[in-house]
Amino acid sequence: MNTNLSSSVPSQLETDCLVVVVLDRSEKDQSKKDKPAVTVESSDDAVREAVKDVISSAEVTGKAFETTLLHRPAGLKAKRLLLVGGGKAKTFSAAELRKLAGTAVRTLKSKSIRSFAFVVPETAVPAGQGLRAIVEGAFVGNFDPGYYKSDRNEKDQKIDALTIVVHGDAHDAKALESAMQAGRIVAESQNFTRDLVNEPSNRMTPTIMAERAKKMAAEVGMNCETYGADKIKQLKMGAFWGVAQGSDEPPALIVLRYDPVGAADKIHLGLVGKAVTFDTGGISIKPADGMEKMKYDMAGGATMIGVMRAIALLKPKVKVTAVICATENMPSGKAQKPGDVQIAMSGKSIEIINTDAEGRLVLADGLSYARQLGCTHLVDAATLTGAVVVALGYVNAGIFASDDQMYERFANANKQAGEKMWRLPLDDEYKDNLKSNIADMVNAGSRWGGAIFAAMFLKEFAEDTPWIHLDIAGTAWMEEAKPWIAKGPSGIALRSLVEFVKGWES
Ligand code: BES
Ligand code: MN
Ligand code: ZN
Repeated sequence: MNTNLSSSVPSQLETDCLVVVVLDRSEKDQSKKDKPAVTVESSDDAVREAVKDVISSAEVTGKAFETTLLHRPAGLKAKRLLLVGGGKAKTFSAAELRKLAGTAVRTLKSKSIRSFAFVVPETAVPAGQGLRAIVEGAFVGNFDPGYYKSDRNEKDQKIDALTIVVHGDAHDAKALESAMQAGRIVAESQNFTRDLVNEPSNRMTPTIMAERAKKMAAEVGMNCETYGADKIKQLKMGAFWGVAQGSDEPPALIVLRYDPVGAADKIHLGLVGKAVTFDTGGISIKPADGMEKMKYDMAGGATMIGVMRAIALLKPKVKVTAVICATENMPSGKAQKPGDVQIAMSGKSIEIINTDAEGRLVLADGLSYARQLGCTHLVDAATLTGAVVVALGYVNAGIFASDDQMYERFANANKQAGEKMWRLPLDDEYKDNLKSNIADMVNAGSRWGGAIFAAMFLKEFAEDTPWIHLDIAGTAWMEEAKPWIAKGPSGIALRSLVEFVKGWES
């Protein structure tokens, strides 16, 4: 999708469709009822005139994601005018705007429209922020997961060109241009991650994932090393190998390094990703129902690869290393069995109670390796537990943090990125559940508080390094399409992580 900026008066712009946000300003308070209940986010009189009738007819309420399409709007050069509802004006922010841009893309592309112009709301958000949110949302909305449909090419309905209309010319054109580029980089990286996650396990093996990471790294000029079983054994990654040993598909340890000149050497961020390219559960096999979805069990790793892509292009001055542990989790004659004991890279012994609790095993060694590489702060992302879905549903990802200061930084970044996440606890009282008769710890305990148990397990391997764990099991895959995003891989956490990394810039 091509993107370009325009400071034209909206009504004077020639486009297939002009998109304008409308907001709901209705008040419960009767005394304020004389104020207009729905307002248009443009000061262009011709636009206001064009929408006057449809708004006063009460057909347009400003409700979030409500779309109203008008043809040949009087007084406008645009062929069509699309009004998108932004919900209550009071709570409107860049996060809502991002979704509205996605909604506009999805509404228009389904009508065979290939290009449109989106008017940046004039009062609701600062221009640069609004512009960026629109670019991000539009790219995310343009993603289509129907890869292997044989009529995909005929049906491939995508927006080719997006014009973003900024009000007036009082803005710093250079700043706007760079906000647009940044939005594009982040959103394309998010879609890059979604591409990886969308692939089925026969087309996204650990080896293929490593190749995709290498190719991406070469394109953006970043260092990428990929290793196989030999290196995993040589590093004594007994927990990672315990999972990988059951599969005929070789595992891959993917290491991406971003080390810019001028970065402070005190800070070295480590991003660790779970990339189980298919999780059958192993010998503790999963039920058949819904097992096909376990192709997305590599979403944490795919997210970290996407974050590194964005970082390499945005070039913040902060050192970042990503460690991605990619493997299948299969039952076989070589597979690990319940009761087996594995010695992790850190030297800690683990009694395998349930071979389906494999994500924490691969991450345990990933975290140790990132520490060995010198990382001073760790973040992992993983589709780790069904229990986080029980706790937070499909709406919020779970955040766990061993360090409050690091959490505050992450929470700020998360807010900027407009992704839904919620902090869950890591009290010492939960530690009792880790006890094993035979080893230092078990890999699975009681059902209750399962997401917390998994995080407590990981904490043993993050040790004293400040660490954040993101459990994205319920949010990495959209169970339903939303007005702004297709059903399928969401790319959750990427935007927050990119913001988080940028926040450490020296
Ligand atoms: N990959 C799953 C978690 C998962 C569940 C991801 C639903 C996406 C959607 C993970 O490896 C797993 O199987 N976890 C088990 C752990 C249990 C055996 C302790 C779970 O959550 O049931
Ligand atoms: Mn599992
Ligand atoms: Zn898993």
